[in-house]
This record gives sequence, structure tokens and C-alpha cells, in this order.
Amino acid sequence: MCGIVGFTGHVDAKDILLDGLKRLEYRGYDSAGIAVEDDSRINVIRRVGKVSELVSSVGENDCLGGCGIGHTRWATHGAPSERNAHPHTSCAEDIAVVHNGIIENYLELREVLEGRGHTFTSDTDTEVAAHLIEEAYKGDLLDAVRSAASQMIGAYGLAVMCIHEPGKIVVTRKDSPIVLGQGEKGAYVASDIIALIDATRDVVVLEDNEFAVMTPDSIEYYDRIGNAFEPEITHIDWDVDVAEKGGYPDFMLKEIHEQPRVVRDTLAGRMSGNEIVIDELTLSRKELNYVDRVYIIGCGTSYHAGLIAKNLIEAWARIPTEVEVASEFRYRNPIITPTTMVVAVSQSGETADTLAAIRDARVKGAKVFGITNVLGSPVARESDGVIYTKANKEIAVASTKSFIGQVVSLTLLAMLLGRVKGKLTLPQTRMLFSELADTAEQIEYILQDTSAIDEAAKYFEGRTSALYIGRGLGEATCYEGALKLKEISYIHAEAYAAGEMKHGPIALLEDGFPIVAVATKSPTYDKTISNLAESKTRGATIIAIATEGDEEIKKVADYVIYIPRVRDSFMPITASVPLQLLARSVAVARGCDVDQPRNLAKSVTVE
Ligand code: F6R
Repeated sequence: MCGIVGFTGHVDAKDILLDGLKRLEYRGYDSAGIAVEDDSRINVIRRVGKVSELVSSVGENDCLGGCGIGHTRWATHGAPSERNAHPHTSCAEDIAVVHNGIIENYLELREVLEGRGHTFTSDTDTEVAAHLIEEAYKGDLLDAVRSAASQMIGAYGLAVMCIHEPGKIVVTRKDSPIVLGQGEKGAYVASDIIALIDATRDVVVLEDNEFAVMTPDSIEYYDRIGNAFEPEITHIDWDVDVAEKGGYPDFMLKEIHEQPRVVRDTLAGRMSGNEIVIDELTLSRKELNYVDRVYIIGCGTSYHAGLIAKNLIEAWARIPTEVEVASEFRYRNPIITPTTMVVAVSQSGETADTLAAIRDARVKGAKVFGITNVLGSPVARESDGVIYTKANKEIAVASTKSFIGQVVSLTLLAMLLGRVKGKLTLPQTRMLFSELADTAEQIEYILQDTSAIDEAAKYFEGRTSALYIGRGLGEATCYEGALKLKEISYIHAEAYAAGEMKHGPIALLEDGFPIVAVATKSPTYDKTISNLAESKTRGATIIAIATEGDEEIKKVADYVIYIPRVRDSFMPITASVPLQLLARSVAVARGCDVDQPRNLAKSVTVE
């Protein structure tokens, strides 16, 4: 949540900061601002709204100078407004700060600082950082930032500049991502690699309580007690074009179309000598064999990937598996023993609730394995082992390709556990792996002709509510389908087990009420059809995701979206694609910004 950038170098900083902010906008988009130093002062421009508002407010002759910082905000403390937008400055306006995270003790700090004569001009937690640094400043910005950081409790990624030390930016972090890199034009910092990848592919991922001092020609690194150190360089090998739409009208559609590649890349190298290989698990087969309970934790879409995996792990490995929303898991007292495996799923690898749940589970003695999309992210660093989904950078706020990467990774885990437990034979595993790989082509086939999906989407014009129903893996798939619709089109949508309709939700039905059903061929197909018939009788309009060749479905469904025949275990992978496209078509028709839905941010680093 929130994106920060900084640049100090031999060219004007302004355009570099604004370009960086555009790339970080997925992290928050309610206000944005930059601060650039000239010879005598720090010039700050802040605007409410998206980065484009800021860009159009910054004139050619504004903010000229080679050192600056910028911020795109997702409001936590203080409403989205110009006065609450970052950068924030000290009383003397000689120090400017951008911050990502939450300073939990800001009220106490603010009281003390006000008592010492500091005047605050915003309602944010961040502003205390600017005043704390001002209070501690004795001619060395690094010392002052270190002193301020030692007083702050919470999460922060901070970039700070001071007019008395021209051309310098001091950076630190705790539980909030910061990457740095030296390019030809100068030194860069950002919350995410994507903002500096045009300048350099060799980056440093700053760790908690470390500091960096950026000047145009070098970046120096210091640990918490002030010792200089040589950082580890991470080379980025993914393509710069992930930050571009590549001819698609929005990132969401582009990312949906990347899903066949994600399936292939996630499976690459995972079968060796007919066995599933997940070396990242860092447990021997013997240790894995002892696993007698699995918890899958995550939030939102990542939680939904877990719901799908539960079915597969229980079916193939016969290990009881619980799936929990991370924000609940951490406040319960789940039964964790040394033979419990916890799998934490998080696209961003930054989600505060998931991270807290990981820490909690490890303290209780569980081995925790992370499934994440972001190299070096906190989830990756804090887990006992990490499996990277191969989605590459996901920019649209609504997850699509990373969800497919998560489901495929979890499916591999289920197969591996099935093998280790002796429940899946080698030929069965081989066959499953090959069918799983086939889903890449099946998705390609679905993407070739989306006319039935677009036709069904038209039905949502003027609708305010919808139900998504299915059974078994169909139910799990519906949770994700309903989330996609509600988050990007703002139509209220709920998912239910189809068999639950008559226990309550059926009362909602009236003429024309839309029901989206996952009604593919499965062991419970007939039961699902009966549930749909019950709903149709009560006036519902049924939009069914069905298996190609199924003519019977037309008796109950008003709209049919066919997908290729696939083993039920893998159906969520293929059936999710038309559900993503349906949600997007509905949202586009309603004029919604599908890449940046209101009130949301791509990574949720607050509780
Ligand atoms: C929905 C969506 C969110 C995230 C959730 C967890 O499309 O993207 O529900 O899945 O905020 O985020 P991660 O996976 O980054 O932990």
C-alpha cells in the first residue's frame, strides 16, 4: 500500500519520479505528490486523485532539480486530501519525507513533538517522521533518520531528503519493501523493482532496519548500528514490457491472456524421472510423510486458491486440510503441532495479515511454506521455504494470472503429498501432470472466442446483485468468480454452495435475478442441474459455465459459456478464465476502471 520513489542524479528528477509513480500506482491511487530540491528550497507538489492529476499539475518549469522523492497514496490515517498527501515536510520545510506503512505510535509521538513546539499540517501518521527527523537533525541526515526510526513502532519504508545536504536521499525500512539501484543517470529507490527496472536490472532489496544513503554516483549501505556493508545484488531477468499494456486496453485483459504462459512456466522443471519435484519445500520425503495436517492461509483471491487446494490435498493425499483467512487465523489458537504444515499464499508477499499469521505459526512450531509471486518479498524471506508462482509482475489490482499460478503451484503440492503418502501411483501422477499441463492449451482455446462471455455480460446492465453457485470445486471456483465481479464492477455478488440455495439464498430470487453457475461435468453435475432448475422456476436467469458438448444444460441455462472438457480437479483453472472475463466485460460496460478499482490497492500492508 502506497508507493514511494526517489532519484538523485545528473539529470532532472521530476520526470523520473512521475514515471516511477505511474508504475507504482497499483499500490494506491487516492493522491500523489513529489518533492524536488533546487538550490535553496524543497519544492513540493501534491494532488488528490490519480498520478495523472499530479502529472497534469506539474508544469514544465516546476520542480527542477536532480534530487527528489515521490509518493502515490492509499489512505490509512487521514482522508484522501491534498494536505494529507505525501511528501510531508518539517516545520522549517527543509526536510521532506515519503512513507509507506503505518507508524502505530504516531499519536504519542505527535503529542510529544507538539509539546516541543512542532506544528502539524496534516492528519497523517507520516508527518511525525518529518518532525522527528527535524528534531534529531544535527547536521547528519543519516543519524537523524536513524534516531527517528528508533522511536517509531510499526511498518515503514521511508525516503528522506534535506536541503542542507543537497543531492542526498536517506532510506530505511521495516516491514515495508524498498529496492535500490544505481543507473547511468543516478541512484534510484522505489517500493517495487518495476519503478526502476528501466534504469538498472541489478538491484538491492533492503532488509528491515537497514539504511541506504543515496548520492548521484553511489549508494552506501549501513546496518542498524551504523556499520557499512556490501549488499547482495539481485539481478532481474524479467522483461520490462510487463509494465506496458502491450496493445491490450487494460492490464487486467493483458494478464488474463498471459495465463497459458503462467501455467507452462509454473510447471516447467516440476517433473523429473516421473516424480513431482518441489525442492523449495526443504523437507525430506520422510518428513513430508509425517505431515498429518495442513493449514492454508491467505486473503482474498489467495484464500480462494487455498479453497481449491484443500479439495485436492484431501482427495489425493488424504491429509486433513484447513483453509483460513489469514486475518482470522492469527487471532485464533489453531491446533499446530510439529507435524503440521502451514502454506501461506500471497501474490504480493507483503500482506500484513498473512505475514503475521506466518510469524505466529512459526512461533507455534509449524513449518511454513510461502507461495508468492514476488522475489525477496517478506513472505518469501520469513517462510521456511518458498515456491514462486511464475506469473511475473501483476499490475491490475484484481488478481488473475497470479491466482492461476497459485492454483497450479498448490495442485503440484497436492500431487507431491499424494505421492509421498503413497496414495497416488506413478502412472496416476504422470497422467495428472500431463492433464494439468494441458490446461494451458485449454485456456488458449477459451481466450480465442469470448463472444458468449460478452453476450452474457450484457445481461448485467442495470443489475445490482448476483449469486454464484456450484458444488465441490465448482463452489470454490465461484468464490473467486464472485470476488472478481464485485471488486471491479461494484455489483454485489455472493458465492454459495449450490445445495445451500434452498436453505436461505433462494429467498432473494425474483424475476431476472442473475445466477452464475459453475455447472461443468463432475460427479455432482446432476445435483447442480437440479439446483439450477429450482432457481429457474423461481425466476432466476442462469448464466452457466458448462462443458463443451453438454446440450442438457440449455434446458436450465439462459446463457451458456462452454469450456473444454477437463478433469474436475483441474476445472477451477479453466473455469476461472471465463469468470474473470465476464467480470471484466461487465465492469468495462459500466465504465469502471478495471485496473484500479475504487478503495482497493494491490498490496495490503495494513491490518
Ligand atoms: C483480489 C485480490 C485480493 C488479494 C488479497 C491478498 O483480486 O487481488 O483479494 O488476493 O488482497 O493479496 P496477496 O495475495 O498479495 O496476499
